[in-house]
Amino acid sequence: MTEQEPTPQRLLQARVDLVSEIDRGSSALSSRVAEAFLNTPRHPFVPVFYRRAGSTHVPWRITDGAADEWLRHVYSDRALVTEVDGVLAGDAPSAGQAGPATSSSTMPRLMADMLDALDVQLGDRVLEIGTGSGYNAALLCHLAGAENVITLDHTEPLVVSARRRLRESGLEPTVLRGDGAAGQAGGAPFDRIIATCSVRRIPQAWLDQCRPGGVIVVPIKGTLDGGAVACLTKLGGGQAAGHFLHTPAAFMPLKSGPEEAFPVPGRIDGPQRATRISGRVLDDYRFSFWVHLHLPPTVVRQGGQVDGEHSITLHDPVDGSAALIHDRADGQVMVTITGPRDLWQLVEAAHEQWRGHHRPRREWLTMNVDGGGQSVSYRAADGIVSRWAL
Ligand SMILES: C[S@@+](CC[C@H](N)C(=O)[O-])C[C@H]1O[C@@H](n2cnc3c(N)ncnc32)[C@H](O)[C@@H]1O
Repeated sequence: MTEQEPTPQRLLQARVDLVSEIDRGSSALSSRVAEAFLNTPRHPFVPVFYRRAGSTHVPWRITDGAADEWLRHVYSDRALVTEVDGVLAGDAPSAGQAGPATSSSTMPRLMADMLDALDVQLGDRVLEIGTGSGYNAALLCHLAGAENVITLDHTEPLVVSARRRLRESGLEPTVLRGDGAAGQAGGAPFDRIIATCSVRRIPQAWLDQCRPGGVIVVPIKGTLDGGAVACLTKLGGGQAAGHFLHTPAAFMPLKSGPEEAFPVPGRIDGPQRATRISGRVLDDYRFSFWVHLHLPPTVVRQGGQVDGEHSITLHDPVDGSAALIHDRADGQVMVTITGPRDLWQLVEAAHEQWRGHHRPRREWLTMNVDGGGQSVSYRAADGIVSRWAL
């Protein structure tokens, strides 16, 4: 054993610490999920991950010194970025890699809530979309039995390294490269389907490949930040119904087909008006999923500054509408709009409705899939139901 290699006792203690941390935050950590975390080491799946250093991401290994700090980091409730702009942390230059995170090991508390909701029983046929590091797949193997787990990712290097790490951990689920949007028809029907990347609407293939009575757990999110995890039961006749977990979830999106490019709007110099709400409302995780439901799915948000002051831009590339929301130092918030629609008015109306309903939590919303499509509903105290198409 080298100096950097932690002792088995230290590793066991690290897993116990992680489970205690998860337990302190989750509303319902079942003993089966706790047992899976206790028996599944995380560090073999993330031997190297990225740390943020200014505008770049720098790879970090246990052998880089500070082995204890590294281990505490791995066994804490943190997401660990393992791929940036398609470059695995293990292949990154030591000076760092710039670009967006393209794969990460999810925050354990969020993983635990999702696995609890998935309610996997030994022998269940499980499909995971988004293999990433393979750590969640390892937990699924513990819960369902490795021979019953199929996990998919769309990039070859991720699939190859996750497969190897799972095998080195004594687990041999089926790890495949593929576009998760198509599911895995060859392995269907599944008792459980879990996605660890977000979608605005559930792909039809997942609904078709889940058996009636089966469970689908999937993060729903558009181009804005706030997402929510839906937990649906597949019903007869192609229908599904369920609710949302309390946990905020901003998963990276399922990438399917050609990359979408979001053009930056040109100068926004249309009519200007005052608004009562700051652009920061979109950072409020209690509101940000609600606002998703009120905006066209194509609206993109960008951060920025006007004269050194906080501002954001909303832009819909489909019709060219854009709104610049500027928090001025004197406390006034100004909106400048351009294009055929006032996008900020949609946010203002959503905010007013949300406050009028006494700020509903995301777990009070329900989701339905039927012949009419996919929708989210909220039943207010007076029995009136609001419904939004996804
Ligand atoms: C948050 S990471 C997954 C975390 C993973 N479950 C773990 O335990 O490490 C999201 C993953 O979704 C994958 N992904 C994105 N689009 C995909 C697609 N169309 N098909 C399959 N996987 C996809 C990404 O490559 C990334 O690895």
